[in-house]
Amino acid sequence: MVSLPGFDRLFSADLRRRLVALRQEIHRHPELGFEERETSRRLYDELSGLGPAALELDRVARTGLVARLRGADPGAPVVAVRGDIDALPIQEATGLPYASERPGVMHACGHDVHATWAVGAACLLADRPARGNVLIVLQPAEETGRGAQAVLESGVLDGVAAIFGGHVDRRFTVGQVVADEGPLAAAADTFSVVLRGGGAHAARPHEAADPIVGLGALVLALQTIVARRLSPGTPAVVTVGTVHAGTAANVIPDSATLTGTLRAIDHDTRALLQAEVRRLAEATAAAHRLTAQVSLELGPPPVVNRPEPVAWARRAVEAVLGAGALQPLGAPNLGGEDFAWYLERMAGCFLRIGAREPGGEPIPAHSPRFWAADESIFVGAAVLAETARIASEAVYRS
Ligand code: NI
Repeated sequence: MVSLPGFDRLFSADLRRRLVALRQEIHRHPELGFEERETSRRLYDELSGLGPAALELDRVARTGLVARLRGADPGAPVVAVRGDIDALPIQEATGLPYASERPGVMHACGHDVHATWAVGAACLLADRPARGNVLIVLQPAEETGRGAQAVLESGVLDGVAAIFGGHVDRRFTVGQVVADEGPLAAAADTFSVVLRGGGAHAARPHEAADPIVGLGALVLALQTIVARRLSPGTPAVVTVGTVHAGTAANVIPDSATLTGTLRAIDHDTRALLQAEVRRLAEATAAAHRLTAQVSLELGPPPVVNRPEPVAWARRAVEAVLGAGALQPLGAPNLGGEDFAWYLERMAGCFLRIGAREPGGEPIPAHSPRFWAADESIFVGAAVLAETARIASEAVYRS
């Protein structure tokens, strides 16, 4: 275990034990988006332990929770802290003693830690309240990009002045935090293309158009969008994630389908990726005598941190961990994050919280070997609680 200076003062031995146990239990029983019933029940029990003097507790967005922590001045503006709680359809291969007991489902993105640090922040804020009330939002279904919108649609965040959240990141060691201005995560749109050619006997290809050959050409053509259509300095991704075609070795199928994801951190690039996928799909289909049906599903916009909330978060990081803890993001992050929907509606800041134990490997999120070091729980809880206090005071005075 890494020992972070000052944390013994912030977290009693009992609270540390409880948070580690909570994280391990959530990790052991992962649930997919909008199915987080057991997770939600466990979090409800943990938060209700704070007692009615500290908070009100409600369900939100089907399987989420929102806890309202009393501030010193209940008439002051409200700020929010968000932790996401869902898992991924991945078979775990960490070998952890608390590895997933559910085949094919895993907390491979660290949302077990995000849920736990939100509870930790609630405990710290119950102990030392912010100026105004603080909402702790335990959000379902981040991975499907739908949870944040469901929380917003519920109205529970109406009138909230600012919202804060973060993500564990093994590119940074425990105790390091990124609180940069600008894009922290990318827009994440999904595309699918169905190519159709009529179908034929495999021995008589001239009697139809072959969608498998067209699909092969399209997969390669799509790689030229980032390589040839964008300026070399513009971060973007076009990834084909699935291809499906055919039923038998001696049949030319009627159709072939591919799906993929588009990532960009600015509006113009995002629009260009969408237009180029459509253009290349239609042109490649025509070149192979096929038809193309292109669908685009818009995901969250980029997460863009604005200067003032970043300044609040940076002050909190310095107060909790010292100025040396702040690290630049470095290479742009093209991951998607539905926290972006909150920032479309209110002020806020999204952090990356170091989660690699000293000497550990930088295992990427969504890998079956991904896990976040225990201490990242305490960093996330302490930084988010302090950010909420500083933001609450700042919006009260403004
Ligand atoms: Ni995630």
